[in-house]
Amino acid sequence: MSDRKARLSIDGCTQPIELAVHSPTLGPDVIDVGDLSGHGFFTHDPGFTSTSSCESKITYIDGDKGVLLHRGYPIEQLAAQCSYLEVAYLLLNGELPNAAQGAEFSSAISRHSMVTEWLRDFYNGFRYDAHPMAMLCGVVGALSSFYHDLLDIHDAEHQQITTHRLLSKMPTLAAIAYKHSIGQPALYPRNELDYTSNFLYMMYGTPCETYEVDPVVARAMDRIFILHADHEQNASTSTVRLAGSTGANPFTCIAAGVAALWGPSHGGANEAVIHMLEEIGDIKNVDSVVARAKDKDDPFRLMGFGHRVYKNFDPRATVMKQTCDEVLEALGVSDPSLEIAKRLEEIALEDDYFIEKKLYPNVDFYSGIILRAIGIPLNMFTVIFALGRTAGWLAHWNEMIAEGSKIGRPRQLYTGPAKRDVKPLGER
Ligand code: SDX
Repeated sequence: MSDRKARLSIDGCTQPIELAVHSPTLGPDVIDVGDLSGHGFFTHDPGFTSTSSCESKITYIDGDKGVLLHRGYPIEQLAAQCSYLEVAYLLLNGELPNAAQGAEFSSAISRHSMVTEWLRDFYNGFRYDAHPMAMLCGVVGALSSFYHDLLDIHDAEHQQITTHRLLSKMPTLAAIAYKHSIGQPALYPRNELDYTSNFLYMMYGTPCETYEVDPVVARAMDRIFILHADHEQNASTSTVRLAGSTGANPFTCIAAGVAALWGPSHGGANEAVIHMLEEIGDIKNVDSVVARAKDKDDPFRLMGFGHRVYKNFDPRATVMKQTCDEVLEALGVSDPSLEIAKRLEEIALEDDYFIEKKLYPNVDFYSGIILRAIGIPLNMFTVIFALGRTAGWLAHWNEMIAEGSKIGRPRQLYTGPAKRDVKPLGER
């Protein structure tokens, strides 16, 4: 770390407060404000718009340039040249696997793809119309009840097997949730299939006949997993880190990440985009929708647009849009929502409101159109996001544990009543 200093002069303080400045490999310098409380001050940054919560080596985003790097590799190259499991290996280990390492990792992951029969019974407690994200939240947390003898978070072997279990079981848990919602029997994984094909088999196969996974669909789904794999300290990853900082077991930390991801401002936006496009219904309605999005008095927002960090194109949205065109053409699917989405993007990007506020399509804007084209039902969209993000959540959890992170405990700006005494009931 450099020995540069920031000096904070505060009215009423005789001396400026000296704070350390740290320089990253990439991105803005950070001012370490850890000592401020010793000087009687807190920083205040609701939503953490200017706050670094940790040091990490996993992912870097340059929001102004629309750059996303995973361990230094651009997302465009990873999406074009790698599989999701190779990207998961990269996020977890810091390097892309060679052929032998990749084969060993893939085999280790597939060996944990089944879930216990007792956990499969959990789903019978859900109504048929329970949202799959509600089911996923429940069963991921419940996993810890089956492995309580392997939850020493400081034991490297426990960390690794738990990481492999979660990465391997998420597709199985997701597919069981889907089958439960349509009243079909859940299939057991087939480990001769690759990770993503196994998921699609469990989603669409039935015990009554052989099901062959379409390679076009498998490649598209694998790329969608890659595009969702990690995104530095987003809300759900920060939730995983905060839960992990208390020493909670990784199953419950990942369950906390699933819960945080569900919000429509975060991972729930992909489902909300499709609802929005269906509500628009026709290209002729696009102008009025854009007008609503700009109206300060209207809470409506263009779902799939805008981002806390990207003030340029979200590079994932660019790859997703290309994949959209490829998949719909390969499958011979025409979806009017795609034309509406493209027209919406075209109009918004020429509009001063969106240009001034630097609002561009994000990862969620086109993903739903591909998912629908490959037969994923709307209420499973955020589950797919959670599947892809599991690799990132696990990489950050492992990084945090390895660094011995202190428990996360923010302070506050208290504006409630000053100390006062309770009056007897008769005087209230
Ligand atoms: C994800 O953090 C991550 O990395 C997340 C993610 C990941 O991979 O983990 O990338 C995944 O969550 C993508 C985002 C998915 N959410 C949506 O698409 C929902 C729609 N977008 C937003 O609600 C919003 O853009 C956020 C939540 C994504 C970002 O919100 P910020 O950074 O807090 O910005 P803001 O809400 O303060 O908006 C800034 C201004 C506001 O106007 P002013 O008050 O300054 O006048 O831009 C406006 C907003 O009203 N604005 C929008 C808008 N998004 C922001 N106006 C219309 N439509 C929108 N979509």
